[in-house]
Amino acid sequence: MPLHSAGHCPRPLRGAFHILLFLASSCRGGTPEAALPSFRTFAPAEGGLTHLVVHNKTGEVYVGAVNWIYKLAGNLTKLRSHVTGPVVDNEKCYPPPGVQSCPHELSQTNNVNKLLLLDPGQNRLIACGSTSQGICQFLRLDDLFKLGEPHHRKEHYLSSVSEAGTMSGVVVSGPQGVSSGKLFVGTPIEGKSEYFPTLSSRKLMANEENADMFSFVYQDEFVSSQLKIPSDTLSKFPAFDIYYVYGFSSEQFIYYLTLQLDTQLTSPDASGEQFFTSKIVRLCVDDPKFYSYVEFPIGCSKDGAEYRLVQDAYLTRPGARLARSLGISEREEVLFTVFAQGQKNRAKPPKESALCVFTLRKIKEKIKERIQSCYRGEGKLSLPWLLNKELACINSPLQIDDNFCGQDFNQPLGGTTTIEGLPLFTDKEDGMTSVAAYEYGGHTVAFAGTRSGRIKKVASSSSSSSSACASIPCSTRRAFPRVGRRREHYRSRRWLLEQPSSGA
Ligand SMILES: *[C@@H]1O[C@H](CO)[C@@H](O)[C@H](O)[C@H]1NC(C)=O
Ligand SMILES: *[C@@H]1O[C@H](CO)[C@@H](O)[C@H](O)[C@H]1NC(C)=O
Repeated sequence: MPLHSAGHCPRPLRGAFHILLFLASSCRGGTPEAALPSFRTFAPAEGGLTHLVVHNKTGEVYVGAVNWIYKLAGNLTKLRSHVTGPVVDNEKCYPPPGVQSCPHELSQTNNVNKLLLLDPGQNRLIACGSTSQGICQFLRLDDLFKLGEPHHRKEHYLSSVSEAGTMSGVVVSGPQGVSSGKLFVGTPIEGKSEYFPTLSSRKLMANEENADMFSFVYQDEFVSSQLKIPSDTLSKFPAFDIYYVYGFSSEQFIYYLTLQLDTQLTSPDASGEQFFTSKIVRLCVDDPKFYSYVEFPIGCSKDGAEYRLVQDAYLTRPGARLARSLGISEREEVLFTVFAQGQKNRAKPPKESALCVFTLRKIKEKIKERIQSCYRGEGKLSLPWLLNKELACINSPLQIDDNFCGQDFNQPLGGTTTIEGLPLFTDKEDGMTSVAAYEYGGHTVAFAGTRSGRIKKVASSSSSSSSACASIPCSTRRAFPRVGRRREHYRSRRWLLEQPSSGA
């Protein structure tokens, strides 16, 4: 069974799991598969790879897996490993059994790595798992030595959801000379809104034992650096949740791409069909009260078909040609995004999928226009899942520019129109599930991983001419391999491929 099916409990994962090191050639007229160089792979017997980060100075690779964290050399030789599970646990135990005895039966439980982030300023890795209500370990980058595992306070539990690829975090280092930074984290909560916020910003302390580790950046009696799914929303739509597919920072903002139940299209009647929608969420980094929260529907359409189920995204800078055709400079950022068609079946998205590109410039422009219109008193806040009622925008003479980070009114704010990407490539056979892109000799080359374990290489020299020029098989087995969610690719092109065994 595929790791990413919408299971609620961790499954034993067996079979072959690989990381590929793929030295991409440029895309000229298509590369015959036979001529491709052989791949270096990393395929631990235990399998279950979920995350990958590459250190941009050393080129070393850190890999998160079920029950393991690995450190690999740039050539994918294993240098270190660190075991994180199985753990004696029961996801119903709150607080976790390590803190307080629990009435539920305990058993050996797989610890699925759900978040793997570099904190280079502190020379450590943050690795959060699924067990003990989602606690995190701090591991020294050099040797994966465990520096700490805070678990005594409620803020140390991030969420017990065990589905990998649904939680997303962004580390923001503190100013030079200040030892603490921030962690922005978005996670599904499986209905437990009293335990976990869906989005929050936490303090990252230099000392792992510091009692303030993971406490909210700001908290007073009325506001704090967190967003909870309201209980009204959960009583109306018990299945409501937010899946954080990708997160990144750009300029003074943090962005997330999310998938969530569409409460406008889905009827509250639980037996009815469920519809999902993708959103782009934005916060200012320096907004501890979350007054800058804005979310917009995001998607892409091609030949009359709508693609609204975000699968993965990748922030990068465009090559010269793509930049020119998008009307932006090469220094501006673009977001490559893979969507599956339609709005149904989050857990088993349709194979019809599209690779689309967005300019950050357009996203920022749309968000600014929406805030400006709300501050002219036009329309409503339009965020039904969060507000549960329609609040009118309030007219105010404030000047809203690109750097506006919110007031205690006219927030949180939802966009009413979908931000549309530019479709570069569509695929109807294989189901694209992941993406990365880089610039090569003025061209922009995107790689999309597919559900059947292939990597499609798409050269996009301009927004109107993109083509897949190679499709590379990465697995030798059948079943449903999936290119996993890499977090950061820097100089090298490295891919994480998961392949549950065909018998699982
Ligand atoms: C490496 O990453 C850090 C933090 O993300 C960034 O500040 C730095 O500019 C990067 N260095 C290179 C060479 O890309
Ligand atoms: C891989 O890299 C490591 C560390 O740089 C080195 O010690 C090792 O010999 C390399 N192995 C291969 C097969 O190239």
